[in-house]
Amino acid sequence: MDKIHLNPFKFGDPVEGDYYLPRPELARTVAQFLENRIHVVLIGPRRFGKTSFALNLLKLFEERSYSCLFVDIFNITSHRDFLQQMLRALKFSKGWKGKLKELFHSIPKLRPKITAEIDPDTGQPSLGLTVDHSSERDIKEMIQDVLAGLEFLGEKVFVVIDEFQKVTEIDDKGWLEATLRTHMQQLRNTAFLFTGSRRTIIYDMLNNPTRPLYRSCQPIEFPAFGEEFTDWVVEKFESIGTQCEREAIEHLRELVQDTPNYVQMVCFHLVARGKNKITVKEVDHALGTVVRQNAYAYQTLLNSLTPTQQRTLRLAGKEGKQIFSKELLQKYEISSGPALASSIRSLKDKGILDEEGTGRGTVVFDDPLFAIWFQISFDDC
Ligand SMILES: Nc1ncnc2c1ncn2[C@@H]1O[C@H](COP(=O)(O)OP(=O)(O)OP(=O)(O)O)[C@@H](O)[C@H]1O
Ligand SMILES: [Mg+2]
Repeated sequence: MDKIHLNPFKFGDPVEGDYYLPRPELARTVAQFLENRIHVVLIGPRRFGKTSFALNLLKLFEERSYSCLFVDIFNITSHRDFLQQMLRALKFSKGWKGKLKELFHSIPKLRPKITAEIDPDTGQPSLGLTVDHSSERDIKEMIQDVLAGLEFLGEKVFVVIDEFQKVTEIDDKGWLEATLRTHMQQLRNTAFLFTGSRRTIIYDMLNNPTRPLYRSCQPIEFPAFGEEFTDWVVEKFESIGTQCEREAIEHLRELVQDTPNYVQMVCFHLVARGKNKITVKEVDHALGTVVRQNAYAYQTLLNSLTPTQQRTLRLAGKEGKQIFSKELLQKYEISSGPALASSIRSLKDKGILDEEGTGRGTVVFDDPLFAIWFQISFDDC
């Protein structure tokens, strides 16, 4: 019988341990700022490993006796959601050891709503918090109190807010941004790390003098991996007795715009299919399969767009460069340059296309697999 290996690759969720290739240089740089209480914004493309990196850094700071909080605001739509996520983060944070009680006692509005329960699994006290019936005014007050209360969490506190740009999507005339700014300045014991992927939105928050977070953080671009990532992948294949050509992985990295998530995804499929030699051809084949598996989602997304937007994506996916040339506009039946420009703008707003491409005429897909899907599905006859 064939030996069954645990697949050494993993994708989708944040990774740690054997599935995580450390980024020591980046960690050093970011830690250096944070330890000097300079707040940092990490800006990087989607699925590049921002959350994994932040979680790994959090562990490091825990070892350095910081009280740490990880606040995920990816799905928030309101102040209530934001508060809920802050409270959730507090609930799961380690290293507070009783200090949480002090924090909550400092928040009169919150106190009646806290129910101290003993978690049946761990025997630890857990916090039941409900903010469902509070008014918007109370919620705003509680957000301020929770932020101010970080002062009681310990001598050194480290807060990660993942998917930072979401705070701009709450229609509150900048209230949450301004509130964060106030506490970032006032809390002498707390360093904030924000992560986000919407480059234009974040740079506007930081560089526009009329906005509350103007120059409040050090922006750092989240870098792509170097050669070491290829070595790491090749070694992983070798660890399960699979031969892997370096150039196959280099080829894969290029095709997926060096997105670690997709490198791991394709490698996962190669292992799952029991390939014992990884070549460029095998990679192309596996990538094609992965992309086709997503066809339904892509088709659904495409159907929700206007015809010009659909043509724009086809043009961008297949050509990528010089897309404003007359020939290409004609070939893809787009009426004019301005029509293309406006269509690109709305696709950027929807988060389908990205800012990456510098200069007019080059566009990049937020999801490199979507671009590959266009290349496979709309073959010229
Ligand atoms: N340091 C790493 N080493 C190896 N693989 C990684 C690393 N970082 C990320 N990955 C791969 O990328 C996937 C996504 O990671 P993660 O969720 O941290 O990225 P993200 O940038 O936060 O993504 P999103 O934009 O969806 O929030 C992981 O499941 C893993 O396959
Ligand atoms: Mg993430």
